[in-house]
Amino acid sequence: MGIYRWVSLIIMLLMIGNGRCSSKLHKHKHHHHPSSYSYRRFLLSNALALTPPMGWNSWNHFGCNVNEKIVKETTDELVSTGLSKLGYEYVNIDDCWAELTRDDKGNFVPNNSTFPSGIKALADYVHSKGLKIGIYSDAGYYTCSNKMPGSLGHEEQDAKTFASWGIDYLKYDNCNNDGSKPTVRGDMHPAKWGYQVGNSWRTTTDISDNWESMVSKADMNEVYADLARPGGWNADPDMLEVGNGGMTKDEYIVHFSIWAISKAPLLIGCDVRNVSKETMEIIGNKEVIAVNQDPLGIQAKKVRMEGDWEVWSGPLMNSTVALLVVNRGGYRISITAHWDDIGIPVDTIVEARDLWEHKTLKQKFVQNLTALIDSHACKMYVLKPIA
Ligand SMILES: *[C@@H]1O[C@H](CO)[C@@H](O)[C@H](O)[C@H]1NC(C)=O
Ligand SMILES: *[C@@H]1O[C@H](CO)[C@@H](O)[C@H](O)[C@H]1NC(C)=O
Ligand SMILES: *[C@@H]1O[C@H](CO)[C@@H](O)[C@H](O)[C@H]1NC(C)=O
Ligand SMILES: *[C@@H]1O[C@H](CO)[C@@H](O)[C@H](O)[C@H]1NC(C)=O
Ligand SMILES: *[C@@H]1O[C@H](CO)[C@@H](O)[C@H](O)[C@H]1NC(C)=O
Repeated sequence: MGIYRWVSLIIMLLMIGNGRCSSKLHKHKHHHHPSSYSYRRFLLSNALALTPPMGWNSWNHFGCNVNEKIVKETTDELVSTGLSKLGYEYVNIDDCWAELTRDDKGNFVPNNSTFPSGIKALADYVHSKGLKIGIYSDAGYYTCSNKMPGSLGHEEQDAKTFASWGIDYLKYDNCNNDGSKPTVRGDMHPAKWGYQVGNSWRTTTDISDNWESMVSKADMNEVYADLARPGGWNADPDMLEVGNGGMTKDEYIVHFSIWAISKAPLLIGCDVRNVSKETMEIIGNKEVIAVNQDPLGIQAKKVRMEGDWEVWSGPLMNSTVALLVVNRGGYRISITAHWDDIGIPVDTIVEARDLWEHKTLKQKFVQNLTALIDSHACKMYVLKPIA
């Protein structure tokens, strides 16, 4: 399948608050059109992102210290580790890739010391490896780092520049705007209108690499569950922190599981050139990725919360159900998920596949499923009604 080119298109995606919020327009390969549902009413109809986008983004690990060597090596590693085969296809450069001033024609100039070969050459490189490339701009005068110009007043020009370079995905931030440009005056929440101009939108401010930040982003994102659908996703609880070192393995498993079941884009945010076996087990979990990429595209919800525990669930194709039970407290506890909370008729006999143990449980379940969960840990299942 050829690489889709981003067409010239003026987008104005805004954000919430004053954080680095963003919206994304990106390309995605055309999947077969899933049949039995009708979510597609108001979508940006570019046939992209029929499942949540997957890839890598430079920001969480590298911040402003990104350069073309890192981007090329990351591209190579996505391929050699097999992550690209699992679906991680976008290589996305975040803030700080350009010089502070535009050239005499008003065009962006890639930072001469960090991107000396230019972005077109880098895009060609990424494409030559079978992957896609993303870039970053901002609806204001400067981006959030204040180290490069934003696209305010240059929207069409920049769109043409990105298209000419072969860019496949744009993350569009909203720092340093002058307050005049949001297309939907008075409504700064992109979840409510982002579907008209992008394939995903931020629902939160930036994540940090710790448990409290991660669960708070998950909570904020959950509120907008009904707005997610094939072609338009609540992209963000933000990029992934898995592999950056600030959480335990169990906490990162919770992080990845919630993002997956919430149909958030899975954008790796660590240094892919140096991933541990543990990190690879998490971001490389095919069964969890399959829940994220399920063609129905229905974002899971928290269907029950009691004290420190939560039950998340959402329907999947073929009448199966994704179930995630999370213990947010400090002690190991037993958590019960009830069929009447997760949309399964009470008398149904269910087979449960544990997606982190990679095994189908011998026991069959009726009415409910109970699991013992460690502190800051979870279990994730696909439930299949069998009778
Ligand atoms: C370009 O990159 C160099 C090296 O990282 C950095 O010192 C400089 O500040 C960058 N220029 C801009 C305008 O960000
Ligand atoms: C980029 O840097 C090189 C040497 O580091 C210099 O020769 C060249 O003139 C610079 N180009 C621009 C556009 O600043
Ligand atoms: C690679 O990751 C390990 C932790 O997994 C870290 O200690 C080490 O500093 C990293 N190396 C580089 C070059 O970033
Ligand atoms: C649904 O079931 C069909 C027929 O068994 C199978 O080919 C397909 O892969 C399944 N789809 C998913 C997403 O599980
Ligand atoms: C779970 O379901 C079983 C029947 O399979 C029932 O006996 C049990 O009381 C239920 N447990 C809870 C906590 O509801």
